[in-house]
Amino acid sequence: MIIDLRSDTVTQPTDAMRAAMASAEVGDDVYGEDPTVNLLQEEAARVVGKQAALFVPTGSMANLLAVKCHTQPGDEVLIDRNAHIVQYEMGGLAWFSGVLPQVLDGVRGVLDPDVVRANIQAHVPYYRMRTTLVCVENSHNHGGGSIYPLPYLKAIHEAASEQGVPVHMDGARLFNAAIASGVSAQEIAGHTDSLMFCFSKGLSAPVGSILCGTREFIDRALRARRVVGGGMRQAGHLAAAARIALSDMVERLAEDHTAARRLAEGLAEMPGLVMDPATVQTNIVICRHEGGAAVCEPLVRALKARGVLVSQLTRDSIRLVTHRHIGPLQVDAALGAIRECLPGV
Ligand SMILES: Cc1ncc(COP(=O)(O)O)c(C=O)c1O
Repeated sequence: MIIDLRSDTVTQPTDAMRAAMASAEVGDDVYGEDPTVNLLQEEAARVVGKQAALFVPTGSMANLLAVKCHTQPGDEVLIDRNAHIVQYEMGGLAWFSGVLPQVLDGVRGVLDPDVVRANIQAHVPYYRMRTTLVCVENSHNHGGGSIYPLPYLKAIHEAASEQGVPVHMDGARLFNAAIASGVSAQEIAGHTDSLMFCFSKGLSAPVGSILCGTREFIDRALRARRVVGGGMRQAGHLAAAARIALSDMVERLAEDHTAARRLAEGLAEMPGLVMDPATVQTNIVICRHEGGAAVCEPLVRALKARGVLVSQLTRDSIRLVTHRHIGPLQVDAALGAIRECLPGV
């Protein structure tokens, strides 16, 4: 048995998704004629309370288009240092939009509204750097699945709006944040100008993310999507699975959070591992080992040899992500393997 804790992106489509993909009614989406894509876009926009939505192949593309449509070359984007957009999207914002990330230090990825307010440079002389976008990530991947408290989001949105600056949310795991905090996706999205979320992570769809915002913003994103080769044709086959992700797979995310907590509690008992289970809010568990890379690197390799896959996040930390294929049995088996592989246990 392989226990794959590297990411929730490894989830397989459900039987219902496979059946829906096979029988989807489709058309040419570049002509706007794919009925299944159109339905998905309407449903997604409704769920987050935005005017319109655009189906894209990946979360990275959704973020890329959002930055492009909110900024001009030479602008500055305020963003957490460890945001996915900064660390894992290949400098796409600089490459495609010609903007500079102004990185701020969040706490587990969550930016302090006062720090954001103090760093927005919107109304400055022409020769000064101009902030035209604030990006937040919710839940925060590198922060260990941390959630933005709603008052923080509200304060950040207010501070930015007062200066005429939009807020974009990388909500790849928006529904993990919503389910874990008991706040609706729509309420969270209400404190953003645009946001994206992924169907292909804990929601188990094979492919796809969606960008949501005003009609005018999405019309511009549609043009930008075409530039980066994201104009798909009979994409309804993919959208069919994404529709099921949205309708059937959201509530069960609570099970992934329970599994993550169980994992964290087990890890907290192991010597050398630095883990506070109270910090685990959703489905991502990050723990450090006091022995640093000298322990983490061989640990990841030894676990792999036992069929337990985890990611090495930094030199001295590992990341474990729970998802639909990880129940209590898998958690306990993974903990057993970790116990066997750790030095001095
Ligand atoms: C927070 C966050 N944003 C964006 C993405 C990008 O999604 P994709 O892999 O579909 O490009 C990921 C992927 O893991 C992510 O964790």
